[in-house]
Amino acid sequence: PGLATYDPGFTNTASCRSSVTYIDGEKGILEYRGYPIEQLAEQSSFLEVAYLLVNGTLPSKTEYEQWVHDVTYHTFVHENVKSFMQGFRYDGHPMGMLEASVGALSTFYPESANISDPDNRYIQIVRMIAKMPTLGAWAFRHGQGKPYVYPDNDLSYTANFLSMLFKMSEQKYEPDERLVNALDVLLILHADHEQNCSTNAVRSVGSSQVDPYSAVAAGIGALYGPLHGGANEAVLRMLRRIGSKEEIPDFIKGVKDGNERLMGFGHRVYKNYDPRAKIIKKACDDVFEVTGVNPLLEIAQELEKIALEDEYFIKRKLYPNVDFYSGLIYEAFQFPPEMFTVLFAIGRTPGWLAQWLEMVQDKDQKIARPKQIYTGDRGLEFTPASQRW
Ligand code: CMC
Repeated sequence: PGLATYDPGFTNTASCRSSVTYIDGEKGILEYRGYPIEQLAEQSSFLEVAYLLVNGTLPSKTEYEQWVHDVTYHTFVHENVKSFMQGFRYDGHPMGMLEASVGALSTFYPESANISDPDNRYIQIVRMIAKMPTLGAWAFRHGQGKPYVYPDNDLSYTANFLSMLFKMSEQKYEPDERLVNALDVLLILHADHEQNCSTNAVRSVGSSQVDPYSAVAAGIGALYGPLHGGANEAVLRMLRRIGSKEEIPDFIKGVKDGNERLMGFGHRVYKNYDPRAKIIKKACDDVFEVTGVNPLLEIAQELEKIALEDEYFIKRKLYPNVDFYSGLIYEAFQFPPEMFTVLFAIGRTPGWLAQWLEMVQDKDQKIARPKQIYTGDRGLEFTPASQRW
């Protein structure tokens, strides 16, 4: 009963009003709080972008220093989180570990349930942005059977993350600045993307007025899926399977026959070149200058060229998305594929939190509760099991 619009996947339903991120998919435009992604990637830093997303404006010098101080101060996690992390199977996927440990943070900060208090909201936001790299790095070290590394708060946000990931001795770990900058750019590019699947999950779960750790854990779960954050991992597997430039035509034929998808291509919103993919292509050069070129790059570039000239992809407006090249860079950093989505999650955290904050402050927000078109039976007569069997 009642009128409902059938829109599976919400392709034509606005679930909220938002002033966080603007996308024009036809023109390939992406802006955070009105600032073009190209300018932010080139001239800002991840923590400044995080401030912008969460607070809505660029910080003054004092505001920025306070923000960096607050985030830096909260990078450590409670010691019991460590035992929690140690309980995971040695070969468990780090996204599963991240999802569970972020959700578990609500038990360490029970006051986070009080989402109507602005000071309380602020501190949970800071905590989450600060602790994600620590949890992500520990999930990585856990998989490698290596001891966890505590945060080094003399380092920048991104350098500290690299230190927790790769430090191998008592000596201070000082990563190459070019790698730190490239990773910072990658985090900026992933920081928000309006109502994507994981952000929708954060808003949807958050609309029940649960604490933000539980809402963000739901977002991490959504991001884990291969059609969302898992795509860059799938791109590398695909490139490796293709193996050489000569095999590309056969592979493309398989895609066109509907056997599989060209991973890292296509986007629900972008019907043009994903602006983030362009910036990542540039970042590739900086990283490969330090690490040496990833041999899969050649196959990726050729695959892109062939696909962009092919009628099948042109007709469907399928262009490279953010995931097409990001996996190649992550691999050059020596991240195993299962860590790629963790990096995405760390980058996306300020966006999830900005969207969550906007939602809890929106007076019109109701608990998310879509309608359905019922297709089952009605009014059947029940026969007890004793008479049916
Ligand atoms: N390879 C081959 N064909 C494709 C692809 C692809 N990557 N993407 C879409 N198509 C075809 C699809 O088969 C369909 O063709 P037809 O009209 O003949 O049935 C048409 O294009 C429209 O596809 P769709 O599934 O209706 O499009 P969508 O907007 O629902 O899906 C997508 C968007 C990203 C899930 C999809 O393009 C895809 O599966 N891409 C590969 C996975 C990927 O790279 N994901 C990362 C997305 S960007 C990062 C993020 O947001 O997480």
